[in-house]
Amino acid sequence: MAYVIGADCIDVTDRACLDVCPVDCIYVGERKSYINANECIDCGACEPECPVGAIFVDRTARSDPDRAAFVADSHAFFAEPLPGRAEPLGDPGGAGKLGGEIGLDTPLVGDHPQGGAG
Ligand code: F3S
Ligand code: F3S
Repeated sequence: MAYVIGADCIDVTDRACLDVCPVDCIYVGERKSYINANECIDCGACEPECPVGAIFVDRTARSDPDRAAFVADSHAFFAEPLPGRAEPLGDPGGAGKLGGEIGLDTPLVGDHPQGGAG
């Protein structure tokens, strides 16, 4: 089990979730943030902090194709090279170790319609 950030974060990126994650496993892209499922300890602290309810538990995606797409996309953010990069991020061990926000998104998020809904 892991927590996942869905479409409602897009173009909102409130970042309140970042302040409560005890292991610093939430990484900020350009239009959205992403939880590293390998680093997440499933504490649940982030979920109630998001003002737009973008964070969900991955098992709730089993019956929800829209959520399932973002579970897969969150995996891809770390496992596949982001646009313009040669190497995937992998599991850096905390967003702070990267020296700041990533500023890049997966193709799914980068091409997502404006507005955050859906
Ligand atoms: Fe971090 Fe806990 Fe959420 S480890 S990503 S605050 S579930
Ligand atoms: Fe996004 Fe909500 Fe965090 S909008 S950056 S998941 S607080």
